[in-house]
Amino acid sequence: MSISIKPNTTGLIFAMREEQEGLQALITDQELHHFAKRTFIQGNLWGHPVVMVLAGIGKVAAASTTNLLIHHFHVAQLLLSGVAGAADARLKVGDIVIAQELLQHDMDASPLFPRFEIPLSGKSRFLAPPDLYLELQNATQAFIEEIQQHFSPQQIQEFQLQKVQMHTGLIGSGDQFIHDKQVLGNLKRVLPDLLAVEMEGAAIAQVCEEHALAFGILRTISDSADETAHIDFQSFVKNVAAPYTLGILKKYFENKN
Ligand code: ADE
Repeated sequence: MSISIKPNTTGLIFAMREEQEGLQALITDQELHHFAKRTFIQGNLWGHPVVMVLAGIGKVAAASTTNLLIHHFHVAQLLLSGVAGAADARLKVGDIVIAQELLQHDMDASPLFPRFEIPLSGKSRFLAPPDLYLELQNATQAFIEEIQQHFSPQQIQEFQLQKVQMHTGLIGSGDQFIHDKQVLGNLKRVLPDLLAVEMEGAAIAQVCEEHALAFGILRTISDSADETAHIDFQSFVKNVAAPYTLGILKKYFENKN
């Protein structure tokens, strides 16, 4: 099927199938397209044109998928929603982080270039466009205020969702699931403002910056990036992170004109 390009389309990228749970069924007027071993679901979500895709995990998967969304669907903006490990003691499992800056924490071409700098670009940090992260903040705040409507009292107890907080700041991405206090500590020593670690955001940021495209990165804290990081990970993603994504994106699209 040939693609009909829809103006103002939002690209929705997910790294894991469980993270997009429930959302796919809400897309109306679906058309499926296949490129590069991925299925792109084009349609409307709460009245807005979207293309949703499961990118896979890691920076290459994210960058490659971002390029496909730009070139085949001419998306006007990109959103990624998923999970991250906490890199700051103030962040608790169940909190939400919105990226203001992103950095590839495993980029190291030193001594040719400073650690973290993308060679020949002169930069190590990518700034998220403020308009979009402010809209995500508003949607997230509204979601947090009515969190009891999305989870049963038992779930709130089980997943400790009584005092969910929103944070905005630096997210670090790398091709590494961090599950070691020492590894995290080493990163934190050189990046004191690091809030969370994940595996895709800064790759999307780099490609979007090259194309002057707006992007937003939204992450639910699923673990503390230490030795316990893998415990109940899948259950958390399915039972907490996926409903967060659905609830926050609904608020976001309902407020969007
Ligand atoms: N995504 C969720 N938790 C993570 C972690 N600990 N490291 C990297 N990516 C993650």
